[in-house]
Amino acid sequence: MVKNYPVVSEDYKKAVDKAKRKLRGLIAEKNCAPLMLRIAWHSAGTFDVSTKTGGPFGTMKHPAELAHGANNGLDIAVRLLEPIKEQFPGISYADFYQLAGVVAVEITGGPDVPFHPGRQDKPEPPPEGRLPDATKGSDHLRDVFVKQMGLSDKDIVALSGGHTLGRCHKERSGFEGAWTTNPLIFDNTYFKELLSGEKEGLLQLPTDKALLSDPAFRPLVDKYAADEDAFFADYAEAHLKLSELGYVVLHFFLLFPKFNLIVIPTQMDLVLIALSFGFCFVFFFPQIC
Ligand code: HEM
Repeated sequence: MVKNYPVVSEDYKKAVDKAKRKLRGLIAEKNCAPLMLRIAWHSAGTFDVSTKTGGPFGTMKHPAELAHGANNGLDIAVRLLEPIKEQFPGISYADFYQLAGVVAVEITGGPDVPFHPGRQDKPEPPPEGRLPDATKGSDHLRDVFVKQMGLSDKDIVALSGGHTLGRCHKERSGFEGAWTTNPLIFDNTYFKELLSGEKEGLLQLPTDKALLSDPAFRPLVDKYAADEDAFFADYAEAHLKLSELGYVVLHFFLLFPKFNLIVIPTQMDLVLIALSFGFCFVFFFPQIC
């Protein structure tokens, strides 16, 4: 699959680099990496592949989306981010929230997740009910991640490793406690703890435990617990996919009418355009050929 990213100006790229530095400062000062990762994931995780609605397009700032039950507590993330966002009015909220997620992973010692700027903000929040329900099992995880979002089994397990950061708050989700003893460090401890069973003071959600009982998920849990590099590589790939759901477009001429950003056609697009012209010429002027 050919990935075409929108071309953004040099000024936009500079603003993104500067915003990244400010985000590092904010996250270090407030110890809020978990909340930043959660806002990026909840923004992107509403994507519905069949209707091409929802996804990482900056709608989380709307009170209507913040009021979704799954987003309890994310108003704090929006509030923390706003003073930095105000300094960069040219950057879209869509890019900004995803950048915060990428920086949260990086600054806590996790893998570098590539970031491609150029997302445009959507005006309307998605409907409620697209994010996973923590009380359910692997069929539900596949309904949300595979059928709705268009991701894979491997992405489900790797992304669940995001719970290496942070904790549950009774007043936000009804659950209480952290998954690991070092919730501000991004490593593979989540998988080690999952395998070592439930412990006093730590938490495993039903959806976390589903990774142990499902025959397709379990080998990946074993692999990531044993090999942090393998986890980091798969996590970075899955996070990149998550952050670009509904954003990266395949072909120039499909994209062009929809967006006002300039898009560089790939070599394949140029070949297809040339072939289309050739075909039309032969079809309409057969006597010349
Ligand atoms: C697999 C399905 C998932 C379910 C059911 C789920 C559920 C939850 C719940 C119930 C909380 C607690 C919220 C609170 O009380 O503050 C939480 C927190 C969190 N989730 Fe997930 N989650 C899932 C996937 C993910 C993914 C894919 C990521 C990121 C890649 C992620 C990152 C986080 C983080 C970082 C926190 C901690 C937030 C904090 O400390 O404030 N989760 N999740």
